[in-house]
Amino acid sequence: MSPTTFRSSGDLAADRRYGYARALMAEGDAAAAVDLLVETLERVPAWAPGWFALGEAREAIGDRDGAAAAYRRALDVDPDDSLGARLRLGLLGATDVPSVPPSAFIRDLFDDYAPRFESSLVDGLSYRGPQLIASALDAAAPGRSFARAIDLGCGTGLMAETIRSRVGHVIGVDLSARMIAAARAKGLYDGLVVGDVVEVLAGEGAGSVDLVTAADVFCYLGDLQPVVAASSRVLAPGGLLAFTVEVQIDAAANSGFSLKDSLRYCHRQDYVFDVGRRSGLDLVSLAREEFRMDRGVPVEGFIVLFGRL
Ligand SMILES: C[S@@+](CC[C@H](N)C(=O)[O-])C[C@H]1O[C@@H](n2cnc3c(N)ncnc32)[C@H](O)[C@@H]1O
Repeated sequence: MSPTTFRSSGDLAADRRYGYARALMAEGDAAAAVDLLVETLERVPAWAPGWFALGEAREAIGDRDGAAAAYRRALDVDPDDSLGARLRLGLLGATDVPSVPPSAFIRDLFDDYAPRFESSLVDGLSYRGPQLIASALDAAAPGRSFARAIDLGCGTGLMAETIRSRVGHVIGVDLSARMIAAARAKGLYDGLVVGDVVEVLAGEGAGSVDLVTAADVFCYLGDLQPVVAASSRVLAPGGLLAFTVEVQIDAAANSGFSLKDSLRYCHRQDYVFDVGRRSGLDLVSLAREEFRMDRGVPVEGFIVLFGRL
């Protein structure tokens, strides 16, 4: 799940060794990859991708403490954390799981993913989040059109494709400039903003929107309270918030959300209800559906529709 675009260390020999180490990992020889990366990092100690790869290789051989130490070094040299070392540390149990991922991680991940996003997700992974949200809207509000909508985490614009005919004016928001560029090329949005969903919502007028959508976006936010409260504030009475979350399958989990190996969050149903209630929203509908594949396994989601009281 880390960005796959290669970031050079500035030292050709180190870059080449990193490539060998990656190949060794792919062949299953993580122990040899660890040795090679340790040696390489002596040449380029301020190179976050090297430390991150060492963390992954050490995890693969079961050296969890060594992996945590390597991820910490990645963070020291890249405090913005574009590789998601904080998430890895949380998954290892070395720190608390962050309540939201680092913005730089999401931005780089999707900037990297943008050119192949639709072929990979829609064609390859049978993704249908936007269609499920559109069906939920059809069922709950048949024939209703919305004067003003905001599509959170709009990505390349798949959500707009499904709701454009029923919205008068729609703005897309996304952290990734390259996803926004792909959305712009479709010509379906009236406005597109590069930014964080909570921050952009904070700049919108209270009660100024009839519909907020977020397809496959809240899985990149652990704590949903800020984004749901911010959505509620911009919704006019009777307005709708429609989103998907991944279903938390670990029945023993003692928190309303948890981080999966995929580095996406999943959420518990009662947690989601509670967040809505605390934000002044009523549950309009809830469905549980498989909405895409992940490494050959279907991912189940809740398709949630909240209404502003
Ligand atoms: C899996 S894609 C889904 C895109 C689109 N909604 C769809 O259904 O095709 C998730 C998108 O959410 C964006 N995203 C994740 N967290 C975000 C945040 N905090 N603020 C803005 N955008 C975010 C990502 O950049 C990415 O484009």
